[in-house]
Amino acid sequence: MSNREIKIGVAGLGTVGSGVINLLKKNEKEIRKKSGFDIKIQCVSSKNKNKKRNCDISNLNFYSDPLEMIENEDIDILVELIGGETEAKDLVLKSLKKNIHVVTANKALIALHGNELSKSIDDSRCDLYYEASVAGAVPIIRVIKESLNANDINWVAGIINGTTNYILTEMLKSKKDFDLVLKEAQDLGYAEADPTFDVGGIDAAHKLTILSSLCFGIPLDFNSIYIEGIEDIELDDLNYAKELGYSIKHLAIGRKNNNGIELRVHACLIPEKRLLANVDGVRNAVVVSSDAAGPTLYYGAGAGSLATASSVTSDIIDVSRKILSASNNSVPFLSYQNNQLKTKKILDIGNITSRYYLRIRVSNKPGVLADITKIFGKKSISIESILQKEDLINDENVPIVLVTHEVLEKNIVDALKDIENLEVVKGKIIKIRIEEL
Ligand code: HSE
Repeated sequence: MSNREIKIGVAGLGTVGSGVINLLKKNEKEIRKKSGFDIKIQCVSSKNKNKKRNCDISNLNFYSDPLEMIENEDIDILVELIGGETEAKDLVLKSLKKNIHVVTANKALIALHGNELSKSIDDSRCDLYYEASVAGAVPIIRVIKESLNANDINWVAGIINGTTNYILTEMLKSKKDFDLVLKEAQDLGYAEADPTFDVGGIDAAHKLTILSSLCFGIPLDFNSIYIEGIEDIELDDLNYAKELGYSIKHLAIGRKNNNGIELRVHACLIPEKRLLANVDGVRNAVVVSSDAAGPTLYYGAGAGSLATASSVTSDIIDVSRKILSASNNSVPFLSYQNNQLKTKKILDIGNITSRYYLRIRVSNKPGVLADITKIFGKKSISIESILQKEDLINDENVPIVLVTHEVLEKNIVDALKDIENLEVVKGKIIKIRIEEL
């Protein structure tokens, strides 16, 4: 066994940071047997030294300022787990400048500043690895960059936010309300510091920004993603979807078609026989469809302390191997060579086609359905099925659930505007896209 040693500094000791410290300790021997070297945590940083936390840092050099840590310590790899954007970006840039390699779990950092960081990586010839930034324990980034690199990728779709998947699963299973289930997800360490990032779809959009760049060879562009969260979905929708033979999941979809690339994050109805429809709780799953390999599926825990630490630690091992073999930068940061990244046309959401689930609250009186279907008829939107439900609490207004055939998004949006203006229609219409996948 070699006595080579890699020294690391860990910035941020929250859910993921403490997971990494615990995992490196727990599996120290296992890691050494596989890698042939030791990984020594030399120093850590966090705002508050005395905060109660789930890991032992008593023997480690402690800093309350991560910038001071990288100035004072002689480390090979900085593990950035402080999250957020500004402070993390500064820390990562300064580390690369000092020729310190970086491993991070920070999707916002990569999605919003990755293009700029890429230049510093080239200049420093250091590696910046970020496996844990998408889908927690699921090794999807390495798969796209390395295992599928002989393929032209056509589409990628997945459940890539554990918190929203946990909420949708638990709401249906245990009939608990949204706020209570969100609180559970926070207590389990799944949610972002600002949980509206999870439920509003921002976190999934950060991750899709990364996946779409890796899959399609485009620069990172968060603003090109169409984003919807799960805020409007009610238990009724989950139940109606089930009755119709579907599950509701929050999906991220990137798909090349003849006119451009679709990049969107929103809830979808998925036929319940599909694998993705059965991915429950905090689990994530990503399907990548490519020309040679065909569709391949990756599944596992999407969040959580040790699960995410598994990906971070695997990056630490990978970067260490590259340091020890002087082969850094052998795998490009964004999968494609930097000079091969090309901006491509991203489709406006109005130009995608889909089938739709619609829930419309209407007055309980004759002729209402005819008024609604007349508008659909005028816009050439064909209805596949209709369910009219009774409402035991308020029988003056009742929900109607419709499923459409495939239609252009802008046509359905126009039709729904007209329908919402009907006097018999009460409140906002709930519209959820249906994906066959
Ligand atoms: N808040 C994220 C999630 C954590 O729920 O998926 C993992 O990125």
